[in-house]
Amino acid sequence: MTDTAATDAAATAATAAASARAAAPVPGPGTAGLAGPGAGRCAIVTGGGRGIGRATARELAARGWAVALFDLDPAGLDETARLIREAGGRAAGFAVDVSDEDAVAAGVAAAAAELGAPLVLVNNAGVLRDDFLFRATLDDWDLIMNVHLRGAFLMSRAVQRFMVEAGWGRIVNLSSTSALGNAGQSNYSAAKAGIQGLTKTLALELGKFGITANAVAPGFIATDMTRATAARQGITFEELAERVSAATAVRRMGDPADIAHAIAFFVAEESSFVSGQVLYVSGGPNA
Ligand SMILES: NC(=O)c1ccc[n+]([C@@H]2O[C@H](COP(=O)([O-])OP(=O)(O)OC[C@H]3O[C@@H](n4cnc5c(N)ncnc54)[C@H](O)[C@@H]3O)[C@@H](O)[C@H]2O)c1
Repeated sequence: MTDTAATDAAATAATAAASARAAAPVPGPGTAGLAGPGAGRCAIVTGGGRGIGRATARELAARGWAVALFDLDPAGLDETARLIREAGGRAAGFAVDVSDEDAVAAGVAAAAAELGAPLVLVNNAGVLRDDFLFRATLDDWDLIMNVHLRGAFLMSRAVQRFMVEAGWGRIVNLSSTSALGNAGQSNYSAAKAGIQGLTKTLALELGKFGITANAVAPGFIATDMTRATAARQGITFEELAERVSAATAVRRMGDPADIAHAIAFFVAEESSFVSGQVLYVSGGPNA
């Protein structure tokens, strides 16, 4: 059998399996639909050690999901897990570099063993290496591509088989208003635009298995990432926040909870007809 024929046969078999599942649904213990939150399922949030990832993990935990936190920072992982448990939720941290193929495979297997099949994936882990093109380095370019794009690819590829098996899944990727272009961010804007293409392709490939893929593109959100931006620009965070707020329709910067809420919308059972979309969450119509 040629590679193409084998791929086609596998896809046909998988589609038939998905149809069979849809025809004979097995009621689950979930509170938000057949494969929503409940025993034996979890949501993975990468970069869950702080910022938007932490807020998203807390939001999903509050909605009944057991949350697997993937991050490089063990102290951040512990703190997010502690906050979730304190509020009565379930969470576990996994020290995973999302750009490392072996670490991703091991992390996803460990999360599935401890918390259940990952049926939600939020690709949120991220870094910045801003500079103007004439000073931008190849190392920084590679790092940005590896964490944002390679990371989202590796995580999505590792997790999709659980979602296909369940006939239900939600992938939410973090893009950015910078995807539309931002001076000083050639690497980051390219990665965040790439995330949008990846999202739309995942939506097309995985839709027939009950899996949606969407992206949230935040504007300026108050996190350690933007605090570092202010420091790099030689101004205080308050000065940067004031500048950004004045240029934002709702006259404030965003909070991690604003983004967590948008992500939770895409994850909800009721959002099963929303896929391949990019939602700009930036306090106004302009990036
Ligand atoms: N803050 C904003 O204004 C803003 C705007 C648009 C988009 N975003 C995007 O939202 C996401 C979260 O941003 P944030 O502001 O919370 O950032 P943050 O810097 O506060 O947190 C990012 C987290 O990702 C983790 N991380 C970094 N590299 C990793 C890797 N290789 N593997 C695993 N974890 C890794 C970090 O340890 C950290 O805990 C990022 O993708 C970012 O690009 C942020």
